[in-house]
Amino acid sequence: MPQIGRYAHITGWGAHVPSRAVTNDDLSQILPTSDAWIRQMTGIVERRIAEEGEYTSTMAIQAGRQALKMANLDPLTLDLVICATSTPDYLMPNTASLIQDGLGAGKAAAFDLNTACSGFVYAVSVAAGLIKGGLYERILVIGAESMSRVMNWSDRSTCVLFGDGAGAVVLEASDRPGGVLASKLGSDGSGGDQLMVGLGTRLPITEDSVARGETAMKMNGQQVFRFATRIMNEATREVTAMAGLQLGDIDLIIPHQANTRILEVAAKQLSIPPGRIYANLHRYGNTSAASIPLALVDALAEGRIRAGDHLVFVGFGGGLTWGACLVEWSYGPRRHWSVSQRAWRWMRDRVAGVKRGLHSLDRRLSGASRGKG
Ligand code: UT7
Repeated sequence: MPQIGRYAHITGWGAHVPSRAVTNDDLSQILPTSDAWIRQMTGIVERRIAEEGEYTSTMAIQAGRQALKMANLDPLTLDLVICATSTPDYLMPNTASLIQDGLGAGKAAAFDLNTACSGFVYAVSVAAGLIKGGLYERILVIGAESMSRVMNWSDRSTCVLFGDGAGAVVLEASDRPGGVLASKLGSDGSGGDQLMVGLGTRLPITEDSVARGETAMKMNGQQVFRFATRIMNEATREVTAMAGLQLGDIDLIIPHQANTRILEVAAKQLSIPPGRIYANLHRYGNTSAASIPLALVDALAEGRIRAGDHLVFVGFGGGLTWGACLVEWSYGPRRHWSVSQRAWRWMRDRVAGVKRGLHSLDRRLSGASRGKG
């Protein structure tokens, strides 16, 4: 039950993408595809692909660190880390716990949330609910994906669409009105087979199943396209009404970045100018749960968002799932920190790193001495 006079504001944000950019022309060297087809059918120009040694957790840690810096928060003051991902480092341990450790957020709980491309909207909604309900004060929400690792690189109908990356936001409790005003989440499991990655306990991972591409991404593109356009329209309208606003009050919609044609259809259905729907998918392709926070960070960097603006985050994808959040933006595009504040933060990060190292050494030494005993 939300507490009266308690709000959940986004106070920090950050993003990280791998440095390796793969263009449509690069893909046309290894697949029967072309830059013209990919641009015209999707709007994608290039995507970032994780290098060896880069994982969902490592990208998420970079994005999370930036978001904490922006919010000027000590990682030790975080209550919870939520990682929205459908491409975790492992089935166990959960990726959020790896992130929590990597950030030195030693007092935070941590869990993963998997609703595919809707994951970030689900995670922001859950975090806002926990804050408004009075359970937590500060939560780090990250959308992070290594989609390139679950692609069938010989299936041109899917592998050209996706990319890797991570985006993060910090949500904090406040008595100042604003922040996440409304959320609407939904699911239709009967459409689960329309978009799936078969990796899991139900499908044996054998050389054959991998070679047949059964463990990789499969999608019924046309069905998902129809679902996406319908849901973007419906969920945006619903969440706007829930917040007591009109579509004309929305300054910017930040949708899941799957296809510019989906965004164009949605703009028509919502009767809003296409410029009020933010798109950066030409740069990153579809990064699933990372796409909305990556778009948010780019929109902020481009000066597209001002304090007091009403934003809608709207996601749709595997499950099938969908979700929309209405956010009243409460902070200007950037906070500036003095030299002494920056020095203090640098010191704090170093101390957290040393503490983490000592903690892990202690655990190893006590494990070794128990082994001897
Ligand atoms: O993040 C989760 C949400 N995901 C989405 O929202 C994705 C929604 N779906 C889509 O964006 C579109 O369905 C796609 C972009 C994936 C595909 O567009 P489409 O209009 O549904 O095309 P299609 O699959 O019907 O394919 C049309 C043609 C086919 O050739 P024929 O049978 O007409 O000769 C495909 O084989 O395009 C061919 N094709 C390609 N050609 C060159 C499919 N992929 C490629 C490719 N390059 N990469």
